[in-house]
Amino acid sequence: MKRKDFLKGAAGTIAAVSVPGFMNREGRVNRAQTTWPTVGPDDERFWKFLRGQFPLTEERAYMNTGGLGASPYEVIDAVKSKMDELEKVAETGHSDEIWKEVKTGAGRLLGCDAGELAFTRNATEGINIVCNGLPLKSGDEVITTTHEHVGNAIPWVGLRQRVGIVIRLFEPSTESARENIDRIEKLITPRTRLISIPHATTTTGQVLPVKAISELAKRKNIWLFVDGAQTAGMLAFNLHDLGCDAYATSGHKWMLGPKETGLLYVRKDMLDVVQAKFIGAYSDNGFDLVKGTLALHPTAQRYEHGTVSVPIRVGLGAAIKFLHRIGMEHVWRRDQALSTRLVDGLKAIPYVRVLSPADPDERSALITFKHEKLAFGAVLEHLNTYNLRARGVGEGGVNGIRISTHIYNTYEEVEKVLEAVRTVWKG
Ligand SMILES: Cc1ncc(COP(=O)(O)O)c(C=O)c1O
Repeated sequence: MKRKDFLKGAAGTIAAVSVPGFMNREGRVNRAQTTWPTVGPDDERFWKFLRGQFPLTEERAYMNTGGLGASPYEVIDAVKSKMDELEKVAETGHSDEIWKEVKTGAGRLLGCDAGELAFTRNATEGINIVCNGLPLKSGDEVITTTHEHVGNAIPWVGLRQRVGIVIRLFEPSTESARENIDRIEKLITPRTRLISIPHATTTTGQVLPVKAISELAKRKNIWLFVDGAQTAGMLAFNLHDLGCDAYATSGHKWMLGPKETGLLYVRKDMLDVVQAKFIGAYSDNGFDLVKGTLALHPTAQRYEHGTVSVPIRVGLGAAIKFLHRIGMEHVWRRDQALSTRLVDGLKAIPYVRVLSPADPDERSALITFKHEKLAFGAVLEHLNTYNLRARGVGEGGVNGIRISTHIYNTYEEVEKVLEAVRTVWKG
């Protein structure tokens, strides 16, 4: 079908899309469009249009959203225009209205209340707030996995060194989710205070059964912290339903937000348990230096302090709107369709072993594989020659290659990965 027919045929397709001169050589519209064609989760024309909403170059297949996401023009424009506006008057622009609007949108994305969210600079900052804010003391035990990203490993090791907590590790099984619940249960002792797990592991993208682990934690009277760096903006879920006590994520990965953005969720009834330790302007609800009194902000804003960049928070708000506009169910469906194509293709290549879970229900859009004959560094080097951005996974001794598939990726790019992997072994 010709592009013209698509524009005529797709319900809701509008004039802005057809403005000539905006098309790149592949027929994509490379500029933020205020009006969109109807979202069609299985309609390649829609996803082609969407790719044009990102400045990502066509030559390079960017498949490392798990490391850092790309931002659409809408986000970039929002940051720029807020910055332009504020620099004219040299004000910070901090406003309760903006905070409320962005956090309300984020709450709808994550399934929580706006008041349970704090802005952070990245997932690691949120992890540190929880790690250092919980009243953990020497001898208290924390259960975590051997597959943690450094961001959810170093803070706990630091706490071990400073305070003397005991870290108990389990290796996540990619065979079955149930198995992981059993592995955690076996590590629980009367000294266990916290389970700290990723929602999806950075290593193989396995989605851990957070709800079931949360039920186990509640039964045993243990806190549950979830590192959600790899799931916000990729999966559709509801934090209240998952039942964890706290959850930290990046805004600059799957959420498509500006770099140096993040969100921390602390469940309402945990706000006084996770103590706010870095505090200042905006953390409080009134204080008196002379009397020495302080009331912390009643919401998770208590974890925020001092002057911050308002433009990047406005940009995060634009990213959240962008995701809502597509719909998280559609985002996940697209991410999953691309990653499933990748897995099916990888499985057919000799000596290649997919390390991500075989069960599609336990997989995310992070797919990790290994070549039985080659070190992962050599495979990565070969992929680079295809102008392909993948990531090596050394964590947990996995030694694999990780490919992320997000909404701006295409089946052609998946095919490029497969072609690169097919040609890596000359034996
Ligand atoms: C599971 C996980 N946790 C934490 C992080 C750190 O994220 P940030 O750089 O936003 O702090 C990452 C980054 O890749 C990650 O994969």
